[in-house]
Amino acid sequence: MHDASIADAFLAAHPPSVRWAGDCVEIIDQTTLPTSIDVLSLRSVAAVIDAICRLAVRGAPAIGACGALGVVVGLDEAAPTAVTDAMAVIDGLVDRIGNARPTAVNLSWAVARVRDAVVAAMPTSVPGVRNAALAAAEAIMAGDRDACTRIGLYGLDELAGVSRIMTHCNTGRLATAGWGTALGVVYAKAAAGEEVHVYASETRPLLQGARLTAWELHDAGIDVTLMPDGASATAMAQRRVQAVIVGADRITANGDTANKIGTFTHAVNARYAGIPFYVAAPLSTFDPSLPTGDGIVIEERPAVEMREWRGQPTAPPDVAVWNPAFDVTPGELITAIITEAGVLRPPYTESIRAAFAARP
Ligand code: MRU
Repeated sequence: MHDASIADAFLAAHPPSVRWAGDCVEIIDQTTLPTSIDVLSLRSVAAVIDAICRLAVRGAPAIGACGALGVVVGLDEAAPTAVTDAMAVIDGLVDRIGNARPTAVNLSWAVARVRDAVVAAMPTSVPGVRNAALAAAEAIMAGDRDACTRIGLYGLDELAGVSRIMTHCNTGRLATAGWGTALGVVYAKAAAGEEVHVYASETRPLLQGARLTAWELHDAGIDVTLMPDGASATAMAQRRVQAVIVGADRITANGDTANKIGTFTHAVNARYAGIPFYVAAPLSTFDPSLPTGDGIVIEERPAVEMREWRGQPTAPPDVAVWNPAFDVTPGELITAIITEAGVLRPPYTESIRAAFAARP
């Protein structure tokens, strides 16, 4: 396997999408890309939650990172004077921030992890609480960066000989603290000097594929072709693509995978075409407490996202709308799940259990 230093040049060249800026969280505003690259400073819990809800920061690991740093913002905002008060503030933030979006488990996982780390540190002062919370949030981001690199390396081996890859939504540097999950595999191929060409589906209705994936791959010098979501079956039938790799927002104990709406359709198409369909995700995206995908809460987004695009009507203003943000791909349609702990294969109930049992 290649060395993790394969990611160093990429990470040095690209600013993180989420970072702690000393007194606030800074994010790259993903609502204005690709028209402009704007940085937002989030200085209140309300601003953190608003940014997460309107997808200014998005992608499961990135919202986990932003939520974890949001706990520090919340502590600064509340300015508690006693350790017990500070712990009560954190408990409240775990609920408020952790529930801002329901489907990606990384968000609730990350804020709970910050709280648990603070409890374990047993701080004796309010600054000690803040330091422990910030250290935990930074550790979550460092862990995600490393996980992304390892996912890329495992993907490099798994997809040896595959150069034409289809993906959906955005799973790259904008969506994580590193070079991405599914796109991490793409970046790893490029870093290893392999030929790689990505077919990105536009990802309606908010166009994460068109606005974000096409932009970040183009920006990194990777060949990318944008296509409508509805073109995936044809792209596969014509053998334009050799494999599909997507990310995940929550993976249950049996391998059922919630990801951006449309993912399930691509998986069905891939099965029909006889093309491998991979999920790439860190273990922080798994929820082994849920036996199957039936238990995953699917976020439903506002009707305005389908009736309008940036204020311009795209449908009758009063048309009924159903706007689920995610779907659940059954584990049986997934060829393998590429994680930082290795490539998990069916039967997933066993391989996922083994991966968690082997965790340090
Ligand atoms: O609604 P979004 O844009 O946050 O949805 C994101 C996705 O579905 C991604 O594929 C997933 O979070 C994985 S990001 C590495």
